[in-house]
Amino acid sequence: MLLKNRSNGGKLSTHTGWPLEITAMIKDILFAAFIIICLFIGHQCKAQTYAQHGMVVSDNSVASQVGIDILKKGGNAIDATVATAFALAVTYPQAGNIGGGGFLVFMDSGGEVTTVDFREKAPLLASPDMFLDQEGSLIKGSNHTGLKSAGVPGTVAGLYLAHKKYGSMPWKDLVQPAVDLAENGIILSWTLAEHAKKIEQHSDSEFLKNYFKNGDGELTRHGDIWVQQELANTLKLIRDNGKDGFYKGYVAEEIALFMKENGGIITTEDLEKYTAIERRPIMGTYKGFEVYSMPPPSSGGVVLIEMLNLMEQANLDSIEFNSTIYVHLVAETMRRSFADRAEHLGDPDFNIEIPLDKLTSKEFAAVRYKNIDLTKASVSDSSKFGQLYDGTNTTHFSIIDEDGNAVSLTYTLEQSYGSELGVPKLGFIFNNEMGDFNPQPGHTNNGGLIGTNPNIIQPEKRMLSSMTPTIVAKDGKPYLIIGSPGGRTIINTVFQTILNVLEYNMQIDKAIEVMKIHHQWLPDKLVYEEDLMSPDTREALILMGHSLVSRKNLGQLMGISCDQENKIYIGAADSSSPDGAAIGY
Ligand code: GLY
Repeated sequence: MLLKNRSNGGKLSTHTGWPLEITAMIKDILFAAFIIICLFIGHQCKAQTYAQHGMVVSDNSVASQVGIDILKKGGNAIDATVATAFALAVTYPQAGNIGGGGFLVFMDSGGEVTTVDFREKAPLLASPDMFLDQEGSLIKGSNHTGLKSAGVPGTVAGLYLAHKKYGSMPWKDLVQPAVDLAENGIILSWTLAEHAKKIEQHSDSEFLKNYFKNGDGELTRHGDIWVQQELANTLKLIRDNGKDGFYKGYVAEEIALFMKENGGIITTEDLEKYTAIERRPIMGTYKGFEVYSMPPPSSGGVVLIEMLNLMEQANLDSIEFNSTIYVHLVAETMRRSFADRAEHLGDPDFNIEIPLDKLTSKEFAAVRYKNIDLTKASVSDSSKFGQLYDGTNTTHFSIIDEDGNAVSLTYTLEQSYGSELGVPKLGFIFNNEMGDFNPQPGHTNNGGLIGTNPNIIQPEKRMLSSMTPTIVAKDGKPYLIIGSPGGRTIINTVFQTILNVLEYNMQIDKAIEVMKIHHQWLPDKLVYEEDLMSPDTREALILMGHSLVSRKNLGQLMGISCDQENKIYIGAADSSSPDGAAIGY
């Protein structure tokens, strides 16, 4: 039977008085009819989208459509990825980018998995104390502000590498849609129009204040056409010259000149030396499913696998979803895995010993799990490590094509609109990713700083990330393609969404929407989504020793689940993403 009872966890119940089996059969028939109608129409919506041939789920419906158009032209998932990523650089400028970096995980139709690391690098002139005052203390905010907060961008190199190795369509055809969007303009969404107004009132950045202005110097308003001619010109150089259009020649020289004249440190040498790196994925298993995610310099994959291994030790069959004991177990799992993150993880190319095999092993998880007290919260040891919460604005998209090639990509400028700076004649925004390094070597405090060695600034080093683009597979075929923005909360958002689907049999849209929590070792706080945790659960958790903090929202997941048996792709964009959309055909 089609998609048998995934939505209620396989537990049959009825209030009709009919035998359970008949009620279940009627439900299945209605559900199958619904899917057939959806497939016939081939549509997009804010809830779930069903499709047979391909699916793109991103934070922006125009960019999702660009990806789908490429798939319809016969492009593969990597082709659609390149086109979608460049389109997001135009339509979702708060995080979509060519001035930042990220990671992608790619599973081909034969079940082979690889990853591309296009994380930003510290410039050659960077140093461990570059954000410190004369007393050796961090100059507050300096690692996230100004041109020195920009890492050497990686996005164009990463997309180019992925295209060269795994793409099928001409590069030019994949960049052209973004050129058209920038040159012809897009209709400014409500969200971007609100950003534009806030930037005009509050930002110190002249670059960003002019960013949303049209030809006559007026702020573009909701519903107006917003043209980005300078960005279009830069994209044309990338379209015509590939990676070199960004890392060499006019664009590179203009970046370096601007940096030199305005206190930045990125040079033409930095840009010329930048390379994206293909890396073996981090791989784990969860109850018969294979889980592929991003290895260091992202912490995402390692922490995700460690947490899934820990949860495999728990008997979740007898634990109700989002009950007090469930939330406690999840929080304690996060606490332990984030402590390991702080101690061990950083750029693997900088001679640090990362015990990857140990951290992702079932044996290690068994030992870690044993010291969870089911009745009370542990205490994070603030004398060891500490980390600030980071409110980042990253973006994720998930893609699958007709042949079953799948891509999970997360990229970012770090904070919303990154450093808020850019070269006016180039039209794109620089990241402020240097803020992801540990800024004050050796200095760790309970309030939030972390100063452990693996993630100290060094020239050409990649800063530790939490981005967690992930593909869960069953028997070598994609089952879930997911990821999220949200700084350190990313890993926990992806983790809980996987549990929601694999353990609690939720459909992808529900798995994305239900309450998430976050714990990151230090500060020792259990963060929950306000309005989604019941008062009695909150009270019970406090009695167990947890310190609770509420947040409006955690994560902004873009996910696809795949019913391989019936060859149906089901896409869902988090409803917290105002312009996001799952589009299939
Ligand atoms: N900038 C957010 C991250 O890489 O985790």
